[in-house]
Amino acid sequence: MIGKCLFPVAGYGTRFLPATKSMPKEMLPVVNKPLVQYGVEEAIEAGMTNCALVTGRGKRAIADHFDISYELEHQIAGSSKEAYLGGIREVIERGVFTMVRQREMLGLGHAILTGEPLIGDQPFGVVLSDDLCLNRGGSGVLAQMAALYEEFQCSIVAVQEVPMDEVHQYGVVAGTAERAGLTRVTQMVEKPPQDEAPSNLAVIGRYILTPDIFDIIRSTPPGRNGEVQLTDALQTQASEGRVLAYQFEGLRFDCGSVPGFVEATQHVFEHYYGQE
Ligand code: UTP
Repeated sequence: MIGKCLFPVAGYGTRFLPATKSMPKEMLPVVNKPLVQYGVEEAIEAGMTNCALVTGRGKRAIADHFDISYELEHQIAGSSKEAYLGGIREVIERGVFTMVRQREMLGLGHAILTGEPLIGDQPFGVVLSDDLCLNRGGSGVLAQMAALYEEFQCSIVAVQEVPMDEVHQYGVVAGTAERAGLTRVTQMVEKPPQDEAPSNLAVIGRYILTPDIFDIIRSTPPGRNGEVQLTDALQTQASEGRVLAYQFEGLRFDCGSVPGFVEATQHVFEHYYGQE
């Protein structure tokens, strides 16, 4: 079973400035819960109780969120307000949180490599918490992927079909059908122009990675934007037939963008708020 999940949360979140000037993007609340907590809950549900956070400067609020707040908890102990802390207390009790700092924001590949000491030599999940994934009444996306890993024992990326005029915002995959909703990847391209995209299957922020990815990232030269791209490293595994793309069950909201964040907020308010 996969027990560890990596959370790269070191990015600047420039699309949310000025909100993210002194506050981590991952702490933006969708209704009343920060984005990163949704991701952590999804990982814990998938059995990945060991949560490794790759943080950066200005991200201390994330570490504090997954710790006890003595003064606050003492103040509201025994009052009706205590109920509001129920969810996060459960997360803190079930999870183990470790942290490492990414000193320079050199891209997602680099962030993942920075997390290597927290992961070691075992397969692991990756959650980009600015992609909010919800599957009401069913298993979370990461749990679906963990089950697939048990079957195939290789790296898995979550994908969804996007309109062709949006492919340039994503890593895009192509390959051969393994079965319905599952593609054995042969090609992965990071943010291709529309006319160069091999398909409209876009990678979203959920991965299961085998630990050889660390060595591959180390030997992968910087790609688009001068950043070490995870997509380029995954292409190496894909060329050996060791990457599956999974069209998951559930909804995904791009909370790294303002429209996606607003959409997620409306959805969570309508379908989840007050119903837990
Ligand atoms: P994004 O591209 O959404 O990053 O990275 P960003 O820099 O936070 O956002 P914008 O584009 O400036 O608004 C996807 C995920 O990878 C993490 C981010 O924190 C985010 O969760 N990341 C990215 C790192 O941890 N380190 C990096 O060097 C880059």
